[in-house]
Amino acid sequence: MEIAQYDLEIHNLSLSFGGVMALNHVDLKVKKGIVFSLIGPNGAGKTSLVNCISKFYVPQEGRIIYKGRVITNLPPYEVASCGISRTFQNIELFKGMTVLDNIKLGRHINLRSGPLSGLIYWGKAKREEEELEAFLDREVLGFLGLTSIKNRAVATLPYGLQKRVDLARALSPKPDFLILDEPMAGMNREERQDMMKHILEIKNIWGLTILLIEHDMEVVMNISDWIAVMNFGQKIAEGDPEAMKKNPEVIRIYLGHSFNPG
Ligand SMILES: Nc1ncnc2c1ncn2[C@@H]1O[C@H](COP(=O)(O)OP(=O)(O)O)[C@@H](O)[C@H]1O
Ligand SMILES: [Mg+2]
Repeated sequence: MEIAQYDLEIHNLSLSFGGVMALNHVDLKVKKGIVFSLIGPNGAGKTSLVNCISKFYVPQEGRIIYKGRVITNLPPYEVASCGISRTFQNIELFKGMTVLDNIKLGRHINLRSGPLSGLIYWGKAKREEEELEAFLDREVLGFLGLTSIKNRAVATLPYGLQKRVDLARALSPKPDFLILDEPMAGMNREERQDMMKHILEIKNIWGLTILLIEHDMEVVMNISDWIAVMNFGQKIAEGDPEAMKKNPEVIRIYLGHSFNPG
């Protein structure tokens, strides 16, 4: 038995919405410490899959195992407590609040069950909050180059920076496993390069395992250690980037658009 070789194992996962099979008997194994990319056309089931991991959706069938523990039926906050954190395809920040408050609240939302315990948290000792702020300043804001804008309202920031705040929020609970759902969507080339650099640093310096959903094939081929391809709710291929570049299904799906740089 290869104990602990895989951080995350998904067995036979199925999820349907009425007649739509969003996930159709999907198996995935994510090795520890790698960038694992999930690609495929819109509607392939990528977000549904990560929603099953973070428990926003409940699969009808299958098992999800994280670090050897079955997490299929855990509530969302317990999954977060296991060390799994994520960003969202559509930015879900509190736009009127500052960068720092969003990140602090994100840490809290990831780790507790709801808004009420959020209020209790804010009532906690000042010292604890100062310690948290010091950690966020040192590790998260500094790392992502957000220190100088930490007191600005999120709404005043360009889109690329907002995506970075979302990433900071996902990093703030000190996760071991990070899920990024299209972190570069809507970004310009320079912002994408920045995000790519940060993802690689999160893997190489912080040692996190990363499950990445991304459409930009140049990015995917550059930073992934392993790629799985989904279409119509099924995993249709997987392998390293070199193998996936030559895979007929991948070429058929992506030929003509995302493979071209730019
Ligand atoms: N909450 C939902 N209710 C109904 N259908 C959904 C819901 N979420 C996803 N789906 C359907 O499941 C399929 C997969 O969607 P999704 O996981 O968002 O794909 P992707 O992220 O690969 O674009 C699509 O047909 C989508 O319409
Ligand atoms: Mg999606």
